[in-house]
This record gives sequence, structure tokens and C-alpha cells, in this order.
Amino acid sequence: MKHFLTLNDFNRDEILAMVDVALELKYESLHIGNKPYLKGKVLAMIFEKSSTRTRVSFESGIFQLGGQGIFLSHKDIQLGRGEPIKDTARVISSMVDMIMMRTSEHSRLEEFASYSSVPVINGLSDDFHPVQLIADYLTMIECGIYLTHHNPLYPTKGEGGRNPIVAYIGDGNNMAHSWINLAGILGFELRIASPIGYAPKADIITKAQDMCIQSGGKIKILNDAKEAVSNANVVVTDTWASMGQEEQKEQRKCAFANFCVDEAMMSYAQKDAIFLHCLPAYRGQEVSEGVLEGAQSKVFQEAQNRLHAQKGIMLYLARINKIPLVSVE
Ligand code: CP
Ligand code: NVA
Repeated sequence: MKHFLTLNDFNRDEILAMVDVALELKYESLHIGNKPYLKGKVLAMIFEKSSTRTRVSFESGIFQLGGQGIFLSHKDIQLGRGEPIKDTARVISSMVDMIMMRTSEHSRLEEFASYSSVPVINGLSDDFHPVQLIADYLTMIECGIYLTHHNPLYPTKGEGGRNPIVAYIGDGNNMAHSWINLAGILGFELRIASPIGYAPKADIITKAQDMCIQSGGKIKILNDAKEAVSNANVVVTDTWASMGQEEQKEQRKCAFANFCVDEAMMSYAQKDAIFLHCLPAYRGQEVSEGVLEGAQSKVFQEAQNRLHAQKGIMLYLARINKIPLVSVE
């Protein structure tokens, strides 16, 4: 059983194949019409944290593929009242074809997956947000920054497009960790700038740096945001206080004061650099209103790509796990 708990569950070719499925589904959706590749399949979506994009993209996505989603808030199912993960996983997976779970500790997801008889997708944990990175990568491809990807539908911007520099400014959180994983797998230059004390986890960095030896990537951990952004092709940030860190908000506002991606910060990047943010965004904190709403910002294209990314992930997982599918013309 192949789950999708982190990007490291897949190698470079598998990530590229998954992205290709998402690109093909997007093309079909826009130009031909949605096809019911997952007709009759049921996706259970367990949310132990809030969500807008992840919920809507998975639920719309499974519907567009001919299947049905079931939204399960932890407040409504027995898991929230203390029913063990191992019991919940065995029961739900005996009735559905795929499960998406958003939770806190990553170990909850690992335990759930180890007891599930169907593929489990990480819809965000405290440590990783891998499905967001598939949408981010899709958006980069559409913007001509296609890394190692060679899709004839999308022209590149020359060498800068082929070997981009990605600068992630801010908290060493689940998003930072997933960018680190992607850089290790695909092999691009990633610079992370965080305040002292808020760097990404050392074991995740070390593992990705080891992978860079083969992939050709470069991962730099810095404390100076301007140094990180200098000549970057992609500038990314995320909230300073993730879900579950609400009580640290004020303390973090002080620690991250020099890490706002504003117009002055963007001026250090390449002129045609794009700005990405997984959203929700906090204007005036990690990003200025001007950058978020400006011409370089691709955040709403990125958010919309969650739909296509999720569809690609579900169909790819169904195929590699040999879930019986109806044939679709
Ligand atoms: N980016 C993202 O995962 O958004 P939601 O929390 O709204 O799902
Ligand atoms: N780092 C953020 C991402 C939200 C999509 C969080 O975990 O809250």
C-alpha cells in the first residue's frame, strides 16, 4: 500500500508523473470536460484542524472525478472523543477507497496509515504539507519556471527557468519542511531564511541535503531574509503562527519583525520573480498588502491549482495502488 504522507514517499520520477497527471486533468477540465476516472469511489476526509482550500479542493476534486467525498470533522466523529486512531483507521478504511487526513502530530498520520487498508493522504500535519507543494510546483510550471520538468504545454523562461532559486522567508514550519523535501528530490536551490530559534528541523534538512548530492540541489539555511531573496526566481512565505500556535502570536510577531515580504524585500529578487503563499495570509505580517495583491503574486492561481493537484494525487495514487477503476474514454 502506497500512502502519501510526505513528498519523500516518492522519488523524482514519481513526483513528476504525479504532476503530469494533475496537468493533464487540468487541461481536460478546462478544454474537454471532466471525466469520471474515479466513478463510484469514496474519499473520507478527516479534519482535526480547520481548512478552506484543502477541504474544498479535495471535495470538489473527488466529485469532478466521478466519486464522492465524506467530510469528517474530529468534532463529529468518535476520534474526537478519544476513540483510538488504530480503531478509527481500520473502521473507516473498511468502507471507503481513500482517506485524506489533516492532523497535528505527524505520528498520528503515520499510525493511522499503518492501520489503514486504503491509501492515506496527508492533508497537513504539524511537520509537513506535501499536497500544497504539488499545487505550488504546478504553478511554477505554468509561470515558466519548470525546474526539471519538461512539459511541452508550458514554455520555459530559459536557464533561470530551468534552475530556479527558491527563497522561503519565515517560519521553519510544515511548509518549509515540504519545500526542503521537494528541493532534495527535484534538485533546485532553496534558501530558507528564518529568525534564530525558528529554523526548520535539523534532521529534515540533513536528509534533504544528502539527497541533493544525487539530485544536484542546494539547500541553504540563513537568518538574513534579503540575502535569501537576492536574485531569487520564486519568493515564498507562510504565516508566522501556524494552527496550534495561536498563543505564541504576539511573541512571534516580535521575532519575525524583519521577515515581512514587502515591496522592498521583493526588489532584491529577479525582476520577473513570482510570489507564492499557501494561504491563509496575514497582511502586514509575513506579507504586505502590496506584494500579496501585486502583479508578481500568483497566490490565487496557486490556490486554484490545489483543485487540480488534489485530483492528480488521487488519480495517481489510485492507479499505482491498482484500485480497480472503470475505463474512461
Ligand atoms: N493552504 C491550505 O492548506 O489552506 P487551508 O488551511 O485553507 O486548507
Ligand atoms: N503553516 C500553516 C499552513 C496552513 C495551510 C499552518 O500549519 O497553519
